[in-house]
Amino acid sequence: MRHFLTLKDFTKEELLEMITLAQKIKVQTKQKKFVPYMQNQTLGMIFEKSSTRTRVSFETGIYQLGGVGLFLSSNDIQLGRGEPMKDTARVISRMVDMVMIRTFNQSDIEEFAQFSKVPVVNGLTDSYHPVQVMTDYMTMIEYGKDQNPVVAYVGDGNNMAHSWLMMSAKMGFELRIATPKDYACDESIVADALELAKISGAKIIINNDPKEAVIGCDVVTTDTWVSMGQEDEKEARLKAFDGYIVDEDMMNMAKDDAIFLHCLPAYRGYEVSEEVFEEHSDEIFDEAENRLHAQKGIMVWLDSHR
Ligand code: CP
Ligand code: NVA
Repeated sequence: MRHFLTLKDFTKEELLEMITLAQKIKVQTKQKKFVPYMQNQTLGMIFEKSSTRTRVSFETGIYQLGGVGLFLSSNDIQLGRGEPMKDTARVISRMVDMVMIRTFNQSDIEEFAQFSKVPVVNGLTDSYHPVQVMTDYMTMIEYGKDQNPVVAYVGDGNNMAHSWLMMSAKMGFELRIATPKDYACDESIVADALELAKISGAKIIINNDPKEAVIGCDVVTTDTWVSMGQEDEKEARLKAFDGYIVDEDMMNMAKDDAIFLHCLPAYRGYEVSEEVFEEHSDEIFDEAENRLHAQKGIMVWLDSHR
């Protein structure tokens, strides 16, 4: 049985198998052909943080695969009142067929997985957002940006930056990350990515210069400067990220046909300008829709590997 907690645990070939499956199921879905790959299965969805896309895409996704999703907010289940993660795992995994969790610490989802009888999918932690970056890669393929692309991530060294690090390290493409000095990526995740990059041939460049990162790149991406759980740091963060907005000037330094991706929610006037957001809304909302398709590929793959 496999858990989808970080891309680190999968080979490039396995990740591409999931995306290929997602592409196939997307075509079927567009034709209104709902193949019951996961008939009568229940997906437990535990949320310790808010969500729009993750909740709607997983719940709709499992339904379209012939199963049903259970929305379990930590405000409503005993986890929120202190029942241990490992007990929650041992109870829920006896009743459902797969679990998705959105939580804070990566170690919490790892503990859940350790005690779970069924596959666990990471729906975002403070460290990673692997289903999002799978979606982003699927979107890059659709836009013809998967052949030796250069991807520039500008902004916070957060869960999305870490997920891009892993994706680049696995797929072997060039990734340039620019963050303010005090908001750099986690050192151990960078070290892991650099180690994996030796095998895949990925070029990973990390610095504090957004313009240098973006010059001549194929894909520009960013994320909020204030992630969930960091609300108290908002004022300091907004100051520190001055100069990191992806605006027209910055996009003009990328290739003429560069695409812009954003996992959403976006905060216009902060990490991205209104103009850039609206100019690139086609790819941004294709990316958002692809959450539904990419996650079906991941769930069906995990289901067939137990
Ligand atoms: N991108 C993403 O995960 O969005 P939600 O927080 O709305 O789920
Ligand atoms: N980095 C953001 C991503 C939201 C989808 C957060 O963790 O809040």
